[in-house]
Amino acid sequence: MNKMLLFTPIEINGMKLKNRLGLPPLLNMPANKDCTINDETIRWFEDRAKGGVGLVMSGAVVAGPEPDFAMLEMLQMTRVGLYDDKFIEGFARIADAVHAHGAKFGVQLESQTGGPMSGKGPSLPPYPDAENATDDFLKIFLNFEFPVTEVTIDEIEAAKQFFADASLRAKKAGADCVELHCAHGGATFNCSFISPYYNRRTDRYGGSWENRLRLSTEIIQGMRKAVGENFPILARIDSDQLVGKRGITLQDTIKHVVPALEKAGVDCLDVTQGDILRSMQGILIPMYYPRGCFMEMTAQVKKATKLPVIGVGRILEIEMANRFWEGGKADIIYMGRQLTTDPETPKKFLEGKADEIRHCIGCNMSCGPCPINYEIHREGYIPLTPAEKPKKVLVIGGGVGGMEAARIASLRGHKVTLMEKSAKLGGLVASLAKTPMTTEFGNLIKYLSIQMEKRNVDVRTGQKAGVTEVEALKPDVVLLSAGSTMQIPAEAKGKPGVMDHIEALNRMDEIGQKVVIWGLVGADLAVSLAKAGKDVVLMGRGGIETLAKYYPQSRRFYIFRQLTDINVPRVTPEGQRLSNPEVLYHITVEGVANNQIQTVNKDGVKRTIPYDNLIVSRERKPNNELYEKLQGKVAEVYKIGDCAAVSEIQEAILMANEVARKI
Ligand SMILES: Cc1cc2nc3c(=O)[nH]c(=O)nc-3n(C[C@H](O)[C@H](O)[C@H](O)COP(=O)(O)O)c2cc1C
Repeated sequence: MNKMLLFTPIEINGMKLKNRLGLPPLLNMPANKDCTINDETIRWFEDRAKGGVGLVMSGAVVAGPEPDFAMLEMLQMTRVGLYDDKFIEGFARIADAVHAHGAKFGVQLESQTGGPMSGKGPSLPPYPDAENATDDFLKIFLNFEFPVTEVTIDEIEAAKQFFADASLRAKKAGADCVELHCAHGGATFNCSFISPYYNRRTDRYGGSWENRLRLSTEIIQGMRKAVGENFPILARIDSDQLVGKRGITLQDTIKHVVPALEKAGVDCLDVTQGDILRSMQGILIPMYYPRGCFMEMTAQVKKATKLPVIGVGRILEIEMANRFWEGGKADIIYMGRQLTTDPETPKKFLEGKADEIRHCIGCNMSCGPCPINYEIHREGYIPLTPAEKPKKVLVIGGGVGGMEAARIASLRGHKVTLMEKSAKLGGLVASLAKTPMTTEFGNLIKYLSIQMEKRNVDVRTGQKAGVTEVEALKPDVVLLSAGSTMQIPAEAKGKPGVMDHIEALNRMDEIGQKVVIWGLVGADLAVSLAKAGKDVVLMGRGGIETLAKYYPQSRRFYIFRQLTDINVPRVTPEGQRLSNPEVLYHITVEGVANNQIQTVNKDGVKRTIPYDNLIVSRERKPNNELYEKLQGKVAEVYKIGDCAAVSEIQEAILMANEVARKI
């Protein structure tokens, strides 16, 4: 394979890209509350341009009207605006910063009113239920829906004007192209009009495909008039809305959307998929999906057009991007969360340092800031500076918090030793990587383990660190990252077949046919085991609202749908078709004996459930005993991660950086 092919230039209506890699629109770009940009916004774009991509696209920018700032505040959101000339100066700063690194800068434009998700619909709800969908994302998770009002003809006319004006402002600011957001179903003004799912109007903007595409085509024509012939206009479209036949399907896109937008005069199609309300897993694609999983649909769109096509979706590796381009599936590849996690992905690849690339884990916790890339942390960001005085640092615990602290401390010039009691590095997160659905957690372990070697950390696995071992090493600083232990309730402790969640992950091969998972937080393990053919009951104290409660939204949405619809049916000996996993809410455990768990629900209904394995997925307790014991024995002792407070990966990485960047 000629790896350099991806790094050949491409020209789109006069815009020369140095290679075929780009940053897609991501709303996680920083901004001020008044929609202006700040130094952090510049740092965000500049870092990505510096990393080596050819095109840097902005996240959805408000073309107009002026946002309701109180609403943004309520949603704890910031947006970047371009609905007034006053924003041009800020965009010029971004364009200059991006250009300084040889990349081109594009501006994605969207109406502030968005689609039904933000309260404006081509038609009023209710919208048809998608096949298989139990409910939409806002109702499930936020128990909240914007009251939707119908877009008026005056609002359509105003939109045509503000999209045209904003395009011209982008051009004046020095941007190299604009992109009209026509994707993601109910999330956007344009896509909700294109989609038969949301648009049931009877005027000239509804009914036929021609009518439903009229809004986008008129907006594009207005934008073209504003920017002139020799300025690239891109359109972001859904290959498929992923809500079944009543939404935009791949066939519809090929037959109707592509020809209409070509005719309207766009220069390039950026192809994505999904609907923010009903199939958000197509947009914020969680780790449960294979890498590059949607590229086949993009390839179908590419076959249907002569325009250059951009492909996107869980592409993390340059090799994979190159394969898609060489295989003719797309002309340009966007990498979104990967460049959020490691903006230097192309640069490291070209410098022969591919093994130093930090790969996205697809956790979707929050991409702004990225849980595993402290560099895009915003509030109270501590730059990485050489240590004033190199110290002897001992890290206790080789999980992600410990390894990240060791990496940072050694980068700063400290002499670092890491002690891990088990034979392997990785801790809890390495265990999480063991189910087929969550293997992506392993990316972080791989990256950090390689960093231990590259940064010359003295790693001592299989070594328990007690006071004696610590004193023998005479460190100046101890960073205690000893993790946590899952608690097993007294009635289950020591009984045959009982395992805690982590033990279960580490001994997947030994798990029997009948599995009961005690704790609704074990939801993705339950789905994973059901997919592997086990009969699974998932049960917990809470109601449906607590199901997979602490998962990030797009992962929770996927799991929720798996658990509330009958996706992997299990047929009982009596021929009853049950959901597998079967989920039981409001359960109190009355006893555990003889491989059976006795339960009672909130209505007093008792049930005895037999199991081969009872997996307890409940609270974890910090392993912090050593902290007190080391007081007065070592000059500086700090706790990191679960042993400070049981939490998630992002807190461990954050704490590791906050401590290791200061010592
Ligand atoms: C935090 C976040 C914000 C996003 N914001 C936008 C946006 O403003 N406009 C848009 O068209 N897509 C948006 N997307 C979708 C991405 O452009 C991209 O299609 C998606 O992340 C899949 O690509 P990836 O797997 O390479 O990240 C967003 C995605 C994420 C994760």
